[in-house]
Amino acid sequence: MNTNKDVIPFLDLIAQHSPLKDELMQVMSGAIDSAGFIGGPLVSGFEADFARYVRTQYAVGVGSGTDALRLALMALGIGGGARVITVPNTFIATTEAISQAGAQIDFVDVDGDTCLMDPNSLEDFLNDCFAKRKPAERPVAIVPVHLYGQCADMDAIQDLAKRYELKVLEDAAQAHGATYKGKSAGGLGEAAAFSFYPGKNLGALGEAGAVTTDDRSVAEKVQILRDHGQHMKYYHSMEGYNSRLDAIQAGFLRVKLHYLDEWNDKRRQIAAIYDQSFVGVDEVRPIKIAPGNVSCYHLYVIRVKERDALQVKLKEAGIMTGLHYPLPLHLQECYKTLGFGKGAFPRAEKAASELLSLPIYPSMRLEQAARVAQKVKQFVSVL
Ligand SMILES: Cc1ncc(COP(=O)(O)O)c(C=O)c1O
Repeated sequence: MNTNKDVIPFLDLIAQHSPLKDELMQVMSGAIDSAGFIGGPLVSGFEADFARYVRTQYAVGVGSGTDALRLALMALGIGGGARVITVPNTFIATTEAISQAGAQIDFVDVDGDTCLMDPNSLEDFLNDCFAKRKPAERPVAIVPVHLYGQCADMDAIQDLAKRYELKVLEDAAQAHGATYKGKSAGGLGEAAAFSFYPGKNLGALGEAGAVTTDDRSVAEKVQILRDHGQHMKYYHSMEGYNSRLDAIQAGFLRVKLHYLDEWNDKRRQIAAIYDQSFVGVDEVRPIKIAPGNVSCYHLYVIRVKERDALQVKLKEAGIMTGLHYPLPLHLQECYKTLGFGKGAFPRAEKAASELLSLPIYPSMRLEQAARVAQKVKQFVSVL
């Protein structure tokens, strides 16, 4: 039987925030004293810090990562039934944003080792679309997802985007602090969307998101869209949304941004323990980190044949795990109308049945990671 002490949670947000309580309470108390709840220096201060961190000209805070994706697409001029390519193994927010911007979803399969958008599948799909589809039905943009903390193969994707004149919006919701060939996630496309959902590597204490970009007109358009389409109070150049970044959340994020690199380093140490432990263990295939990438390990994901049985065994041993994601989007009920059946994206489908996310978070102790790895090895050897 497990005592509470033995349990290794999947994520521990209480342990993350308790050492920061005084700093976070100061933000809260400053906001109460100044009644600075909407906009103001907490928001502009965080936006400046985050743009510096991502090394882009602009960061525009919004209400969530989903809104960051949707408003960025709209600011890039994508809507009106235009087609946007993404992958089927992502959180549904990626495709919700495409639909809600008024565009239509196209999928391409992922690479079997990294589970990121496969540039070869993308190229085949584009060649086919541009040969066979009418101009109005051809894709206009790509949304690569930097899943689990590793950037998609952006050089290959950008080459294809240039060849076919497509815009690229990065879904960087899981990639705060990741780098690709020395460049930061979030600074690799026309724009990028970040989520600050509490469990992310940089998480708010509620909902929040941001769009990063070097394009001034995109930044300005997101600023207007997030605030009811007004360029001046009560003067609306378009209809927009209420999706401002909450000032108190911006203040919390500004505090937490100081710790992000240290937290990501700790995640990498945990990942290194897992990596070393699984060397030579044929039954366990960790997601491969492609050359040129430094992952921020939002998740540490392994592939195992007997995934469900392993998850049960680990739970019995007090080790909590996650599934990211158990059913690819093209097979979800809500996307039945897209007309894809089983077998449409075989690598994404296979991954969905084999992936298991192991615990990884900054307050996790290295000996806990070693214990998780040891239990995984012990159980897979008898499954
Ligand atoms: C890949 C991906 N895209 C988008 C989102 C949406 O972010 P949010 O939950 O902040 O709306 C998330 C997070 O949940 C995500 O993991």
